[in-house]
Amino acid sequence: MIELYTRCHLKDFGDLNFTNVLKDDPYNNLVVYPRSVGLANQELAEVVSQAVSGGYSCVTMGGDHSLAIGTIIGHARHHPDLCVIWVDAHADINTPLTTVSGNIHGQPLSFLVRELQDKVPQLPGFSWIKPCLSSPSIVYIGLRDVEPPEHFILKNYDIQYFSMRDIDRLGIQKVMEQTFDRLIGKRQRPIHLSFDIDAFDPKLAPATGTPVVGGLTYREGVYITEEIHNTGFLCVALAVLNSLCRPGWPRTQKSICLCLPSAGTKGVRHHHLAQLSFLSGLLSALDLVEVNPHLATSEEEAKATASLAVDVIASSFGQTRGGGHIVYDHLP
Ligand code: ARG
Ligand code: MN
Ligand code: MN
Ligand code: MN
Repeated sequence: MIELYTRCHLKDFGDLNFTNVLKDDPYNNLVVYPRSVGLANQELAEVVSQAVSGGYSCVTMGGDHSLAIGTIIGHARHHPDLCVIWVDAHADINTPLTTVSGNIHGQPLSFLVRELQDKVPQLPGFSWIKPCLSSPSIVYIGLRDVEPPEHFILKNYDIQYFSMRDIDRLGIQKVMEQTFDRLIGKRQRPIHLSFDIDAFDPKLAPATGTPVVGGLTYREGVYITEEIHNTGFLCVALAVLNSLCRPGWPRTQKSICLCLPSAGTKGVRHHHLAQLSFLSGLLSALDLVEVNPHLATSEEEAKATASLAVDVIASSFGQTRGGGHIVYDHLP
């Protein structure tokens, strides 16, 4: 059970038990378990769309990254205008025809991107899938193991990515600024964060299937999720302000910055702060994937990887390194 140090209302939808597929031969003698992965994702999409339409931000813990097929399709049923931030060492955008490993966890995005569909054959078990993403709605962060056909796709289909080299060059703060400029600069949209734990350096997250040296530091990883939590802030602050506003107060978004620090009475200001501390911005769904304790070589490795995953989730929902914003009536 995850302990969130923020005031979130948490509903556990439980573990999913997927239907077992008895005979599941590889596609093209290469792509393994297509029917099992297809059906599991069909079932997953159903649950995610239920959770999201119930007003929840849906957290899915995996499991390998092929689960993003189901979570993104399920999420998009309720929020067709969503955008995706994909934090990963890998691009996971091989098609069933470009894959070398045959693993579907290296291909999930290929089934989702509309512009790619004339290059993607239909796998058995995948006929229910409707591509729901356009390529400019995706930004990758943390890439450092991209295969040539994947690189071709990123370049030719206008998909933005920040490799580890880009993070070295720009710094994580600029990377996040540019990510939001691209995805939500023109209009606010729900964010689907798909976070592969192997984005972190293997020293921090050893218990995972496809580790790659030279990954994110703890601080870079948590900065990403803190910034995602902080999205949409002004917009909701405006709603709160407007509802409390006295006649004559400025109501434009721009004026908030000016009037918030000095606005109104002490009581109103406290109320603001209390409200704001509940907000979780535009984050609408989060996948935390590729945590695999069985691959740890010691108990410490398993624990370190899991607790890193907990910090990613908690900071996505408002756990801050600078301290929380609880407003006390009376400090005990
Ligand atoms: N690019 C490799 C492949 O297509 C590795 C993918 C790793 N993906 C993952 N979700 N672990 O097989
Ligand atoms: Mn995997
Ligand atoms: Mn991945
Ligand atoms: Mn990966």
